[in-house]
Amino acid sequence: MSRETRLAARTEGAEGSEIRIMFERAQAYDGDLVRLEIGEPDFDTPAHVVDGAAEAARNGDTHYTSTYGVQRLREAIAERIARENGVPVEADDVLVTVGAIEALTVGLLSVAGPGDEVVVLTPGFANYTAQVELTGAEPVQVPLPAATGFDLDHELVADHVTGDTAAVILCRPTNPTGRVYDESDVRELARVAADHDAYVVADEVYEKLTYEGTRRSVAAIADDPEWVLSVNSFSKSYAMTGWRLGWLAGSTEVIEAAQVLRQATTLCPSSVSQAAGLAALDGPSDPFSEMVDTYEERREYALERIREWPEVECVRPEGAFYLFLDVTAFERPVMDLALHLLEEYGVSTTPGTAFGAGGEGFLRLSYAIDIDRLGTGLDRIERAIETELR
Ligand SMILES: Cc1ncc(COP(=O)(O)O)c(C=O)c1O
Repeated sequence: MSRETRLAARTEGAEGSEIRIMFERAQAYDGDLVRLEIGEPDFDTPAHVVDGAAEAARNGDTHYTSTYGVQRLREAIAERIARENGVPVEADDVLVTVGAIEALTVGLLSVAGPGDEVVVLTPGFANYTAQVELTGAEPVQVPLPAATGFDLDHELVADHVTGDTAAVILCRPTNPTGRVYDESDVRELARVAADHDAYVVADEVYEKLTYEGTRRSVAAIADDPEWVLSVNSFSKSYAMTGWRLGWLAGSTEVIEAAQVLRQATTLCPSSVSQAAGLAALDGPSDPFSEMVDTYEERREYALERIREWPEVECVRPEGAFYLFLDVTAFERPVMDLALHLLEEYGVSTTPGTAFGAGGEGFLRLSYAIDIDRLGTGLDRIERAIETELR
């Protein structure tokens, strides 16, 4: 006897991100595959961080923590934000989260709901739209112009901010383009949002991976920081993706609301991961700055190689660890192209459409990979261009 599965309406049409589709295809690949689709550091978490977590676990630090996160970690994060970002934040303004993903989810759930709109820039991180939909608010996708390398056109975005807007999500440095938007554009957009009583949800997970442009956070740039919710995490900057640790910083009222909501979802981040986070903030920073230097070296190498491909354009990424290649000249839907490169040439990339409609015609390559393997991956794409794409 068969019966229809009962599923909630919100699951209808929920396909999951194309990033995950490529990830699964790459995982299942049988052979020598160069993984340029991955959006995470190839470095292992530095030893002093692992030691901090292991010691905590051995000492019995294996229980639930406060739903706000461990107080010492909240204080260390607040100190870091005040010192490095120039934003006067107190521990009470910080919620320790399960990665930036949870900070985005509970942050958005706290400020947006049915009847509201949330402005999402495209191309942009795929999860934003799904997270907005979870809140019941309407995602309003604003395509940034490819002609300017997807620069932040604050007037264009401001045209979509209305009395219904609860938030504008702004990622800086940006995934997938690597752009570090000019402070003046950020300030203008934040001003328009505040004028409409809307938050800027500033996703700054790539903040430490800024090679050009300024590293000041949106809350420091904005004239009205009360209307900024800062999202950050240990994942990219500290090579700690699997520890699932991040934070949400903002007004005490929003943090309080988010803390209540998270009681129904994750309760608290892992105690052991929080010990790792403390070790990362308290310990030496050299291993992390060495990683940034390495990414920068790979960025230069990859850009030099891509410059040799006349059909392909690439805006110089100023941050993060991605290259967003304009492959419109090949006149193929980019999902097909990405799958073809994977199956026939042994190199996996992410189709630009994974970042919203604004990404058609683009492929994202990650340079969070050893430089020799990066070279092999680029050789394979070059061979595809020479043998059949051009
Ligand atoms: C822009 C952006 N925000 C958030 C995340 C998620 O970060 P976390 O691992 O801290 O949840 C990612 C991961 O790829 C990302 O690219």
